[in-house]
Amino acid sequence: MKTARFSRIGFILAAVGSAVGLGNIWKFPYVTGEYGGGAFVLVYLITALFIGIFVLIAELLIGKMGQSDAVSMFENLATKHGKIWKLAGFIVVLPLIILSYYSVVIGWIFHYIVISFNNLPTTVKESTDNFLTLLTADYQTQLFYHTVVFVIVTAIILKGIKDGIEKINKILMPLLGVILGILFIYSINIDSFSNAVHFMFDPDFSKLSSTAIVVAIGQAFYTLSLGMGIIITYAASLPKQSNIVKSSMIIAVIDTVVAIVAGLIIFTLLFDKGAESTKGAGLVFISLPSVFYEFGNAGQFLSILFFVAIAFAGLTSAISMMEPTVLYLIERFKMTRTKAAMICSLFFYLLGIVTLFSNVNEYSEMLKVGEKSFFDWVDFVCSTILVPFGGILVVVFVGYFMDKEKINEELIPLMGKTFVKIWFFMVRYIIPVALVAVILNETGIFKF
Ligand code: PHE
Ligand code: NA
Repeated sequence: MKTARFSRIGFILAAVGSAVGLGNIWKFPYVTGEYGGGAFVLVYLITALFIGIFVLIAELLIGKMGQSDAVSMFENLATKHGKIWKLAGFIVVLPLIILSYYSVVIGWIFHYIVISFNNLPTTVKESTDNFLTLLTADYQTQLFYHTVVFVIVTAIILKGIKDGIEKINKILMPLLGVILGILFIYSINIDSFSNAVHFMFDPDFSKLSSTAIVVAIGQAFYTLSLGMGIIITYAASLPKQSNIVKSSMIIAVIDTVVAIVAGLIIFTLLFDKGAESTKGAGLVFISLPSVFYEFGNAGQFLSILFFVAIAFAGLTSAISMMEPTVLYLIERFKMTRTKAAMICSLFFYLLGIVTLFSNVNEYSEMLKVGEKSFFDWVDFVCSTILVPFGGILVVVFVGYFMDKEKINEELIPLMGKTFVKIWFFMVRYIIPVALVAVILNETGIFKF
C-alpha cells in the first residue's frame, strides 16, 4: 500500500471520529429510554467495554498485519481457504449502504441547526408536526441537505487519508469535545441532573428483558463501528509503532464516555421540563426541540450547540463509512482515488434518495416492502443483522483462521500471556455465540 499513513494522534482521532456518531448522541439515549434506563446502561457498558475492546483489538490486528484493503487482507492473512475468506472482505459495502440513510439523517440535523436560529417549535404538538412534515412531505428540504452531506463527504474523501480524513477529524473532534463539555457543564447545574443520573445508573433489573441485552450488544457493535471493515481499513494505515491494545481501549472508552455524557445532557434537559424519556427515535428531533424552546434565549443557544455537535459527530462517521470501499477499489482495481470516490459517493447518494422518498407520503406505498418502509428496512437489515454478522466473520477469522503464532508475537508484548489467552477465549467462543444470539433475536427466529 502506498497511500500516506496516519500520524499516531491522527489515527486515534479518526477512529474515534468514526465511532462517535449518531449512534452515541441520537440512538443510545433513545434506546436507553426505551429499555428502561439503568440496567440497560449497565449491560451496554459491560459489552462495549469488554466485547467491544476485544473485537477492536481483533480488527486492529487484521489491519496492522494485513496492510491493504479489507478484501485483500482477509485473503492474504487466512492460513487456509483464502479464496473463500476473501468474500468476507465484502463487509466493506455495508457501511456504504448504511451511509445512504445516515446521510439523510445528518441532513435532518443540518435542517435543525437552521431551525434553531429562527423558529424553535413552541409545543410538543408543533414539534411533532414539524418533524413529520419534514419526514413525510418536505422532500425538497431533505434532498437539499442530503446533497450537502454528499458534497462534503466526497470532498474530504477525495483528499485522502492524510489531508482529508486525518485533517477533518483533527478539527471536528476537538470542537465536538468542547461543545459537549459546555453542554455538560450547563446540565450539571440544573436540578434535574440528579434525576438523569438516577435514571441512567440505578439499575432496575426487573426491566431488563433478554431483548434489552441483545439490543445492548448490537448497539455496542454499531457504536464502535465494528464488523464493517472500517476499523480494519483505518488500521492498515496505522503508523508502524502504534500500540493496538492501548488504541482499542482509548477508542472504546472515549466512545462510551460520549454516549453517557450525551445521555446525561439529553435526559437532564428533558426531565427539567417534564418531558418523557420514552419517545423513541423522536427523542432528539421531537422532544428536545420543544424543550429547548422552554429554555428561552439560552435554549436557542443550547439547541444550536447541540445540533452542531451531532452534525460533527455524524460527518466524521459518514466519512469513515466510505473509505473502506474506496480503498478496496483503489487497491484491487488500480483506480484513481477520484474515480473510486465518485463511484462510491454516487452509489450512496442515489440509494439515499430512494430511502428518503420511502418516508414521503406520496411515494411511501410504492417504496414499502411488507410492513416497513425501505428506509427502515435498510437500517434494520444493516445495523441489526449484517453488522453482527460482519462481527462474527471478524472474530471467527481472527480466532481460527489467522496464524496463531504471529498473533501471539503481536499481542503478548502488549498485554502478556494470560490476557492473550483470555482474549483468544473470548474471540473464539464467547463473542461468536453472543452475536449469533443477537441475530436470532433480531430476526425473530428465536426470541430470547
Ligand atoms: N459508530 C457510528 C455511530 O455510533 C456509526 C457507524 C456505523 C459508523 C457504521 C461507521 C460505520 O454513529
Ligand atoms: Na458510536
